[in-house]
Amino acid sequence: MKTTDQLETLDALVSLCKRRGYIFQSSEIYGGLNGFWDYGPLGVELRRNILDFWWNRVVREREDVVGMDASIIMHPKVWEASGHVGSFYDMMVDCMSCKRRFRTDHLARDAGTDEPPKTCPECSGDLTEPREFGLMFETHVGATKDSQAVAYLRPETAQAMFVNFRNVQMATRMKVPFGIAQSGKAFRNEVTPRNFTFRSREFEQMELEFFVHPEEEREWFDFWLQERFSWYGDLGIRQEKLRLRPHREDELAHYARYTSDVEYEFPFGWQELEGVANRGSFDLDQHMKASGKELGYFDDARNEKFVPSVIESSAGLDRTVLTVLADAFAVEQVGEEERTVLRLAPHIAPRQVSVFPLVKKLAEPSRKLYDELKKHFNVLYDAGGSIGKRYRREDEVGTPFCVTVDFDGLDDGTATVRDRDSMEQERVSLDGMVDYLRERLSLER
Ligand code: GAP
Repeated sequence: MKTTDQLETLDALVSLCKRRGYIFQSSEIYGGLNGFWDYGPLGVELRRNILDFWWNRVVREREDVVGMDASIIMHPKVWEASGHVGSFYDMMVDCMSCKRRFRTDHLARDAGTDEPPKTCPECSGDLTEPREFGLMFETHVGATKDSQAVAYLRPETAQAMFVNFRNVQMATRMKVPFGIAQSGKAFRNEVTPRNFTFRSREFEQMELEFFVHPEEEREWFDFWLQERFSWYGDLGIRQEKLRLRPHREDELAHYARYTSDVEYEFPFGWQELEGVANRGSFDLDQHMKASGKELGYFDDARNEKFVPSVIESSAGLDRTVLTVLADAFAVEQVGEEERTVLRLAPHIAPRQVSVFPLVKKLAEPSRKLYDELKKHFNVLYDAGGSIGKRYRREDEVGTPFCVTVDFDGLDDGTATVRDRDSMEQERVSLDGMVDYLRERLSLER
């Protein structure tokens, strides 16, 4: 079997996502809105499965992490104290000929130089001088629209964990080292949203802020970096497409002492999926200064008061969804035909099982099986078209197992289960079907 599992561009994936209901352009009938995306019926399931997999691993399976869910709009002083109001911008230039806009850091990176080039990479036209482009979306709270009422849509979820550090610690009696995690929407008015959902203006983050004694920063950083790196492997992403990349001094965020990114090799190059950073006590110090409130911690065991350092793991849900889809996409030659298949890890596939009657006459026993299976899995019942076509449709959306009810099975109480990847079929008893599927679905790739 010949396989093309390297996407050369994202085009085929973008088209599949639209055709099969994974991801649509936002407000498409009005021409779309650049940098905003909508998840369709399969996209929302995949998104939830990945989010749950993260939440279970980072929060529920750990004694030392608790969760929270904060509001998107916070007091504007939060963003002054965090440094975002003063320094959360990108430098950009415009081409005076073709009017394209670029981030200067991206121009320099693509040209392999320290300084950005002076001419447009697309048309060689002259570029404007670099200008600041503020990334925070502003809104107004309350009846007036003056400067007193300005508020921001959060550009990261992290700050809520810092300003609630004491609330959470007191409420839970957690002892340092411990972490607070949340997932939620973040908003950035990106200069150049691009590469499908990779860089969007509205996206979801999955963040953990882990509070530690300053002497233990390095060991906890190493721990979380390894832990988070292996999570992507457990999502089924191919190991050879993942790497860790420590930040250079000159690319560190204003709050970070050191950072390493988890990167994936997309068709458009190696790109960040997640940053694991040592933020030191920057954020707690800043909020103590700005609010006048105490955010230190008294450690009974050490008999010592200190401001904890923070090890942050900051991942993007939309980016992870895109990575999982891009990594799973393959086109294979099967005999004379080509099939497109999404080799999603079974435990995160949006649809886990499809049930087919071989012919319409077998609708009744097939529906009975479907009714039983849907209590346990996300299942589709499909009686339309030839069996071959039904298999191809399910391959294309990544359904790991298709169960076909045929006449032989009526006699001996079985149905055939077809495996998406090997395309092999196995006869399985109807009584044991739930257990069989449950076992195979929990297998990680
Ligand atoms: N609290 C730290 C923080 O926000 P970041 O590196 O700016 O750090 C963390 O963002 C993660 O959020 C990124 O690794 C990425 O997965 C996701 N992310 C950031 N900007 C994004 C965007 N414009 N579109 C989609 N995901 C984005």
